Amino acid sequence: MTLILAIESSCDETACAIVRDGKELLSNIVTTQISVHTLYGGVVPEVASRIHVENISVVIEEALKEAKVTMDDIDAIAYTQGPGLIGSLHVGVQAAKTLAFAFHKPLLPIHHITGHIYANAYVADLKYPMMALVVSGGHTELVWMKSDWCFEVIGTTQDDAIGEAYDKVARVMELGYPGGPKIDKLAKDGTYAYKLPKPKTSNPYDFSFSGLKSAVLQLVDREHRNGREVIPADLACSFQETALGLLVEKTVKAVEEYKPKMLVLAGGVAANSRLRELMTEKMATVEGCELVIPPLRCCTDNAAMIGAAAYIAYQHGCFGDFEASADPGLDMPYEE
Ligand code: KG4
Ligand code: ZN
Repeated sequence: MTLILAIESSCDETACAIVRDGKELLSNIVTTQISVHTLYGGVVPEVASRIHVENISVVIEEALKEAKVTMDDIDAIAYTQGPGLIGSLHVGVQAAKTLAFAFHKPLLPIHHITGHIYANAYVADLKYPMMALVVSGGHTELVWMKSDWCFEVIGTTQDDAIGEAYDKVARVMELGYPGGPKIDKLAKDGTYAYKLPKPKTSNPYDFSFSGLKSAVLQLVDREHRNGREVIPADLACSFQETALGLLVEKTVKAVEEYKPKMLVLAGGVAANSRLRELMTEKMATVEGCELVIPPLRCCTDNAAMIGAAAYIAYQHGCFGDFEASADPGLDMPYEE
């Protein structure tokens, strides 16, 4: 039995989880700063790191208490090393190193995106080869996994991440932060009334969302200048259908070419109800590939997902040392 204490602090959630054998969640404590950042219309890095400092020891203490374990029971300490906001990451890294030093435990530095992918281990027995569509505030990636703990990014965004595009469009529509869930909800009452461009990329699996985002901003501006009202639900629906259409189309194409046994969705935008619906619909026509959509609680940032990935890293002997520091531009691990 392996008991891992996992810490996540890459953006605006301070979280700690205790995970047994990568799948059994003994506790999962998350404190979100959304209410504070909403006041500014987005995450303010300086404010985020300060709140992490205030919350980190509280979430660790809570996680141990709820799991009814002590530091003596813990086999390893996992933390998000990157990518993310440097000041936010530092808080989790320092907390993990301090615990490891004080209690003589090994460290497991984890890539945030591997955490999002392995969050699916809580709901399915992962099958390889596997394709993962990672869609979050900072990432839009198609990751091909020939085997466990082997990550090859076959497509990525050329500019904005999809969650970032959702947040920026929501901002111009004055819907508040985070924009994804707001657009998701509003789009249900709208129709695909505004024609928006579908940005093209030279690599068929790459993504691009900044042209689409700019088109929305220009449309709002143009309508206002001409004294016309923009219908918010129709705009939300048009943006969402265009963005998700691209995402689903490229993912299905990649699945047809690479032929994985399983396709998993990961990241905050995987919480989107229309994405879940569209992907289910389209994947029903693809034979031999099982679709796994994580439950909502597994989509946005948490430490349970870091614990799940850390269990695999532990089995592969991917331990860190006290020299390792936070790395906002960390690459995904690649192993043959
Ligand atoms: O994975 P996550 O919690 O943090 C990052 O690693 O970035 O993702 C946050 C992103 C935000 O951009 C948020 O607007 C988006 O996920 N998001 C959604 C939905 N729920 C969260 N986007 C679209 N539809 C949703 N329902
Ligand atoms: Zn994330």
